[in-house]
Amino acid sequence: MKILVAGGAGFIGSNLIDDLLALGNQVVCIDNFFIGTRKNLEHLIGKNDNFTFYEQDLCDIGAVSRIFETEKVDFVVHLAANSDIQASARNPEIEYKNTYTTTFVLLECMRHFQVKRLFFASTSAVYGEHMGDAVGEESPGLRPISYYGGCKLGCEALISAYSYMNDMKVLIFRFPNVIGPRLTHGVIFDFIGRLKKAPSGLRILGDGMQAKPYLYVKDLTDAIVRFMDVREKGITLYNVGVESQTTVTRIADIVCEKMGLKGIPYFYTGGRGGWKGDVPQFQYDLKKIHDAGWHAAHTSDEAVARTVEEVLRCGL
Ligand SMILES: NC(=O)c1ccc[n+]([C@@H]2O[C@H](COP(=O)([O-])OP(=O)(O)OC[C@H]3O[C@@H](n4cnc5c(N)ncnc54)[C@H](O)[C@@H]3O)[C@@H](O)[C@H]2O)c1
Repeated sequence: MKILVAGGAGFIGSNLIDDLLALGNQVVCIDNFFIGTRKNLEHLIGKNDNFTFYEQDLCDIGAVSRIFETEKVDFVVHLAANSDIQASARNPEIEYKNTYTTTFVLLECMRHFQVKRLFFASTSAVYGEHMGDAVGEESPGLRPISYYGGCKLGCEALISAYSYMNDMKVLIFRFPNVIGPRLTHGVIFDFIGRLKKAPSGLRILGDGMQAKPYLYVKDLTDAIVRFMDVREKGITLYNVGVESQTTVTRIADIVCEKMGLKGIPYFYTGGRGGWKGDVPQFQYDLKKIHDAGWHAAHTSDEAVARTVEEVLRCGL
């Protein structure tokens, strides 16, 4: 297949592209390096005949249409978004542009050029706060508490309409925090960066008890590749994740241990969430994807430990 990966210079995208190429696909990538980096793709740009890269803002519908016209892709993997939730908490326009508008532009191009197959990266953030509940795909309580979660839910609604109106086959995964090599943001990225600069102490947002499932990136890309050949028209939706969780303080402990730092004092900013819009506790109901034959190979703690080792080995 010829697959367009939108947002492919980012963390998940660059890992997924490696898998898609290894399976013999042709990959066309569009990214404007808003968050992703050229370094994530430097082993491919100009070096792999099956890989084509466009440095392009996905909000420019004219330019993106021209790429669709030239490349004639079979499948769109839409990973582009603002993944820095704290940045859009300060300026929601970042979210509207990079998460919502990129989705609208891609759907319009798919409609115009009759591309029928899509993967969309959604998020646990569409559920909002569900303290103590394991939320399933059909949960009625879709009440995002961040602009990021709100825009992703808006994208899902837009995709629902486009898929119905244009007979598209769409796979949507809602996943939690994903970690692994080429990380571009998040708590592990922050802790390692700050401890490298000043190993005298570590500031931790919230009370450190925020507990979330951390999914290893190769487990996620494995699931995308395995499920992307959707046969049904409309949306096929899965929660994808791990059943275990890791607290923020445990992540700090793992980072310090792997960096060989002993007795580092932690300074908690206090409060349940790390910032306004942060969901402090979250657990998925994963029955649907487990019943379909997929389980993550790493627990949440294993994913954290492996990621810290890889980031320390390869650099931020
Ligand atoms: N990483 C996670 O924990 C996580 C969890 C749930 C969902 N997701 C979703 O998965 C997808 C990939 O996440 P990621 O962690 O790889 O994030 P990322 O920021 O590393 O990758 C997103 C990429 O999109 C690109 N992009 C953003 N706006 C663009 C625009 N206007 N034009 C062109 N390119 C643009 C960025 O430069 C970046 O390379 C995102 O949609 C994200 O919301 C991620």
